[in-house]
Amino acid sequence: MRKHIVAGNWKMNCTFSEADDLINAIMEQLEQKELPRDTQLIVCPPFPYLEMTTDYANDSYFMVGAQNVSDQEKGAYTGEVSAAMLESMEIDYCIVGHSERRAYYGETNATVAAKVNQLLQHGIKPIVCVGEVLEEREAGKQFEVVKKQVEQGLFHLSADQLREVVIAYEPVWAIGTGKTATPDQAQEIHAHIRSLLATKYGKEIANDISILYGGSCKPSNAKELFACPDIDGGLIGGASLKADDFMAIAMAF
Ligand code: 13P
Repeated sequence: MRKHIVAGNWKMNCTFSEADDLINAIMEQLEQKELPRDTQLIVCPPFPYLEMTTDYANDSYFMVGAQNVSDQEKGAYTGEVSAAMLESMEIDYCIVGHSERRAYYGETNATVAAKVNQLLQHGIKPIVCVGEVLEEREAGKQFEVVKKQVEQGLFHLSADQLREVVIAYEPVWAIGTGKTATPDQAQEIHAHIRSLLATKYGKEIANDISILYGGSCKPSNAKELFACPDIDGGLIGGASLKADDFMAIAMAF
């Protein structure tokens, strides 16, 4: 059966000492509280703090993810970070195709597919983000948009490769806006994604893939969202920068 996952996407936040404090605060909470069974906690700090985070993670019960990876293997790509580098640092997960990367850095579904390939070749689990912008939702196109993102980003994979992938549905209009999708709005897209996976890969595999919700998820709404049958956890932005809130969300199952 699929895992419950709560992943913190710190985005471009925290200085070195703030990052150190935040990880320590998370670890302190983990010492005091036992996470619900089958819940995996993932921390995705900025690149410069990955090493520090993996060092701490070795002593505690959370995994580490990067926020981005190059679509190229290696070589003259100044400023890029390769999947091989992440593998050599024992990074477990990597976010791909976040809406901020799609909007500000020109990432397309083709880029997402190439990054997913790089990660899988290096044994790192991709957390692939999909989601519609406000105008698309207002035009009733959310199902179509998400279908295209899932098909073009993932459907070149074999069934065994797909099993390594986590999907995050993040409606762009809900990210950082305080405006959360209602549980019904989120559940219907999650069910849609799972049915796309079932049609292509079969029901059994579709049922094994964790699909996370992201977009203004916080302690006050996590319980209701996570109670939906096709919502397997959350990709948390703002609330992951406060250890208390992040852990409260992780305890919401
Ligand atoms: P917020 O939780 O800040 O809305 O961000 C969600 C997100 O983009 C996580 O990747």
